[in-house]
Amino acid sequence: MIDPNEAIPIQLTVNGQVRRVNVDPRTLLVHLVHEQFGLTGANIGCLNGYCGTCTMLVDG
Ligand code: FES
Repeated sequence: MIDPNEAIPIQLTVNGQVRRVNVDPRTLLVHLVHEQFGLTGANIGCLNGYCGTCTMLVDG
């Protein structure tokens, strides 16, 4: 079981670059790419999953 208070290690490839980070499992992907990777192309709108502003393509 995942402890929601403990950062977990993940690896992802963003724009062709492999990145490894420890992240709070409650972190939204859009916040991760903004805050840890400095990539601000994805915008933040409602933060509730309604508007689609933060949509990112996964696996193409
Ligand atoms: S900010 Fe993500 S759906 Fe609105």
